[in-house]
Amino acid sequence: MYLDPVQSFEPLRSRCAPTRPLRVGMIGIGTVGAGTFRVLARNQADIAGRAGRAIEMVIVSARNLSRAAGIVGEGIELTDDPLRVATHPDVDVVVEVAGGTGPARDWLLAAIAQGKHVVTANKALLAVHGTEIFAAARQHGVAVAYEAAVAVSIPIIKALREGLAANRIEWVAGIINGTTNFILSKMRDEGLDFGAALAQAQALGYAESDPSFDIEGIDAAHKLTLLAANAFGMPLRFDDAQVEGITALQGMDVACAEQLGFRIKLLGVARRREHGVELRVQPALVPATQLMAHVDGSMNGIMVKSDAAGVTMYYGAGAGSEETASAVIADLVDVARLDGTPAAQRVPHLGFHANAMNALPVLPRAAVCTPHYLRVPVHAAGQVEEVAAWLGRRDLPVRQVVRASDRPGMGVQALALTEPMAQGAWDQAVRVLQVHPMVAGSLATLRVEELAG
Ligand code: HSE
Repeated sequence: MYLDPVQSFEPLRSRCAPTRPLRVGMIGIGTVGAGTFRVLARNQADIAGRAGRAIEMVIVSARNLSRAAGIVGEGIELTDDPLRVATHPDVDVVVEVAGGTGPARDWLLAAIAQGKHVVTANKALLAVHGTEIFAAARQHGVAVAYEAAVAVSIPIIKALREGLAANRIEWVAGIINGTTNFILSKMRDEGLDFGAALAQAQALGYAESDPSFDIEGIDAAHKLTLLAANAFGMPLRFDDAQVEGITALQGMDVACAEQLGFRIKLLGVARRREHGVELRVQPALVPATQLMAHVDGSMNGIMVKSDAAGVTMYYGAGAGSEETASAVIADLVDVARLDGTPAAQRVPHLGFHANAMNALPVLPRAAVCTPHYLRVPVHAAGQVEEVAAWLGRRDLPVRQVVRASDRPGMGVQALALTEPMAQGAWDQAVRVLQVHPMVAGSLATLRVEELAG
């Protein structure tokens, strides 16, 4: 029997949920906060219908009060003190869209201690302090909702936690940073250099206030930490993630990957293995035939492999003002429906449960097993075959060795692809090859992610 979501909530609501508005306090009113105001105002009636009651902004904190006054309009208190929002007696739920980790942690813990629900877009905060924040929320019987923290417009937390609730999830892999995907797309499509592409991403408002979080893979690792916790019911293990960004990536490898039928994407991968979990962010070659290879610009794409549903894929904007607001407001709608119900009936904050995942380690880099791409600069065309022979003599599982197409200033390059092999053994082989006399410069190697199996 299909249960209409509104009707199925009806008995609970009429029994114990209040019909007065859900009263919101918001900390921060930058790009995301302003977008939240716009969307709330524009779609007010629909949102109230879905929430079962009105959503009413009570108080907003901002660093620049005169700018904020132009956004919030009349009847809403403005303050420069985030703690006043977090502890305001008329507030049911605190929305934190200010970012940062230290002060934001204090604000959220203060709100939770006062029995207020929390909605946050702050992935860094949850990846680093989530264990403490979720524990406090459980203790005080409030919800922490964070759909906007991961791949903003894609409801991936809901998909993992609810849509795929029947499944054992095998892996989650995706492009979960809009800024780096934008940069890689510009480098590939327009031949832009790294710095110029980053400047454009910053001008468009995609990048974090510290863009090194984007380009060094840290932002993606924050999001991956949350995805893995939801997918596997494992604790937040940001510190154990292997993180590599795109700053060392060379334009030449983008072109060579194309020649071999791949595109380079910054991927976050969380994969369940027999003896542990892989948790890693790195630039990787993705087959051009995969949908993931065509997630371009600032868009995000996430694939989930699960035992019953198979492979599912989710696509949408990875950054942006109203795109993020969409997720913030969806969380407010959830909170509006859950507020007033017994805490035990609420959807859990994360899938922490007594399962074996709690004990499983994050696998070290050396144990990660994937195919590999290798580019070897050599002195002369004839040495491409020598590279193939060298790899063959060491019994490395080589799939293909070819010469890179000539491009101005590129010299002679041998390109190799392997079958899956452990990173540790591969690293060792690459170290030995690097000092071979036929090698004319620095080797480049990247993982290949076939996103299958
Ligand atoms: N800087 C982030 C990105 C913003 O580029 O994906 C959204 O989390």
